[in-house]
Amino acid sequence: MTDKTKLSADEWDEVNFPRPAENDFDRVVERALSRRGFMAGILAFGSGAAVMGTGILSPRAALAQTTARFPFTPIDAQTDFEVHVPAGYKVQVLAKWGDALFGNAAGYDVAEGGPVEASDRIFGENTDGMETFSYRGHQLIAVNHEYTNNDINLPAAQEGVPASAADVLKLQNLQGVTVMEVAEDESGWKVVVDSPFNRRIHHNTPMTLVGPAAGHALLQTSADASGMQALGTLNNCGSGTTPWGTYLTCEENFNGYFGATGEMPSDETLAGGYTRYGIGADGWGYDYHKHDARFDVSANPNEPHRHGWVVEIDPTNPDAAPVKHTGLGRIKHENAEVVLARDGRVVVYMGDDERGEFLYKFVSNGVYVPGGSTEGLLDDGQLYVAKFNDDMTGEWLALTPETTGMDAVEILIFARTAGSAVGATTMDRPEWVSANPHACEVYCALTNNTRRGTRTNAGGDETPVGGPNPREANQFGQIVRWFPHDDDHAGTTFDWDLYVMAGNPSVHSDAYGGSENVTAGNMFNSPDGMAFDTTGLLWIQTDGDDSNEGDFAGQGNNQMLAGDPVSGEIARFLTGPNGSEVTGLAWSTDRRTMFVGIQHPGGSWPTGSGLPRSALIAVTREDGALVG
Ligand code: FEO
Ligand code: CA
Ligand code: CA
Ligand code: CA
Repeated sequence: MTDKTKLSADEWDEVNFPRPAENDFDRVVERALSRRGFMAGILAFGSGAAVMGTGILSPRAALAQTTARFPFTPIDAQTDFEVHVPAGYKVQVLAKWGDALFGNAAGYDVAEGGPVEASDRIFGENTDGMETFSYRGHQLIAVNHEYTNNDINLPAAQEGVPASAADVLKLQNLQGVTVMEVAEDESGWKVVVDSPFNRRIHHNTPMTLVGPAAGHALLQTSADASGMQALGTLNNCGSGTTPWGTYLTCEENFNGYFGATGEMPSDETLAGGYTRYGIGADGWGYDYHKHDARFDVSANPNEPHRHGWVVEIDPTNPDAAPVKHTGLGRIKHENAEVVLARDGRVVVYMGDDERGEFLYKFVSNGVYVPGGSTEGLLDDGQLYVAKFNDDMTGEWLALTPETTGMDAVEILIFARTAGSAVGATTMDRPEWVSANPHACEVYCALTNNTRRGTRTNAGGDETPVGGPNPREANQFGQIVRWFPHDDDHAGTTFDWDLYVMAGNPSVHSDAYGGSENVTAGNMFNSPDGMAFDTTGLLWIQTDGDDSNEGDFAGQGNNQMLAGDPVSGEIARFLTGPNGSEVTGLAWSTDRRTMFVGIQHPGGSWPTGSGLPRSALIAVTREDGALVG
């Protein structure tokens, strides 16, 4: 049997929900319109950028050698199984999958498929989004563990297929979130084993559902008639922080953990939601449903509604139950970028990472007052979805009973359906959103969309070429940014442009060669993780094709680059081991260390022998200077 957990999210989706290419007359017309849209998109991109004076249409040659904005010498693309950084910087492995967080888990051997009893006391697998916190002199890191590679966590003979409840429990323990204390001494950064702050939050950790949908009938299960006491947080992808010092972990491909041993629910509401969110009878290879009835939708049809939320964790209080905020909507959440509007209202920008899905924003009713109550600030408010116009303006469309024809709570539980109802713009897979701390502008990585212009999204919405999604069958990705009118994040209108269109100028001379700030020397594909540092540089991480062949020839392994939001210049800073995705970025409180995540590496990274192990690395300057 194929180990489907080795597939990418796109591939999983394709295996489980193949969507036939349409070729009827309507589709022919649609494709013609798409080509027209494509040209309009490119023209709009050019004229708009010029109007906004961003400089990203400067001649490619003029940008190629200009790196004055960056405090490092850019590095070349790499294809090996190491991490590379510029001269003057060094890399240390801080924590890798299987490392003990508690003394009584020491010796957990990933090669031996460590014991299930210790699997919730070690650093989990496949690190993703992370944030740092400083608390009473302690340096804390909260970091996600997105998914497991079942073939290397279960006995080899099983080929990645769980055979028992204990196998499933182990996989559940290895995912979720780690909160840990770290400290630096002469030999570098280390995990503080047995720190009272250390904590593993996994697929069975008790947590609380709050906000408008909490307690709703669609969230009630046989084990929790209240609909307010969930177990576990699933597929923790990107992250965020709040102004009040808590961690946000975002549930992305939660659907993949569910399956059915009996009949799939046929109720119209459930069936529609299942289709839109990709919940099927077979699941994605975790096979939880065969050994843990909570994940069997034929027995517990509402359990999937208790996942797909943004979850808040207090990293300073290991006893506090995580909180699932239903006010932020249920989608395949990438990250949660929190900013304050001019009047102090809390604004949360959120991408839904699937081909042709939408970009969302939440605006609180209340205002944030430092030291004041924060209750309701992530639940009581208005959810919006983005509509981008080809004239480089856009608007946030409110999701209300009046605009959607849906019940106020069902808008939150089935936010995708609500977005479709108001005509939101289908996007090229919105990944991380990051707001510039020095300007009222927000960036979103649109990682790629090989179905752009050729297939609908899971809700049947067309995905026409145009606007911020200007290329058909887009294999490279782009970064869109928007400028809220009146510099007000709570407002409903904005202007937008493309900060960069990734591409390969060595292979293509058209739009697939990328925008003018992409050169043979800095090219990449599939932007994903993003974060601004305190100096205003935008750090861009990639999760794309690292074959270094064909369209991707010369781009090498996945990587991390720095972008100047003003000039548009982009420079390569770090390359990951072949096979890996570079994801997750945060800075130590003293800004002398940059923590970076390496997910699903290949080779035997980082130990040099045996299994490759996802890990957090610490990047510092040899001269001890600031790194962000
Ligand atoms: Fe988990 Fe969309 O990345
Ligand atoms: Ca991602
Ligand atoms: Ca990705
Ligand atoms: Ca990933």
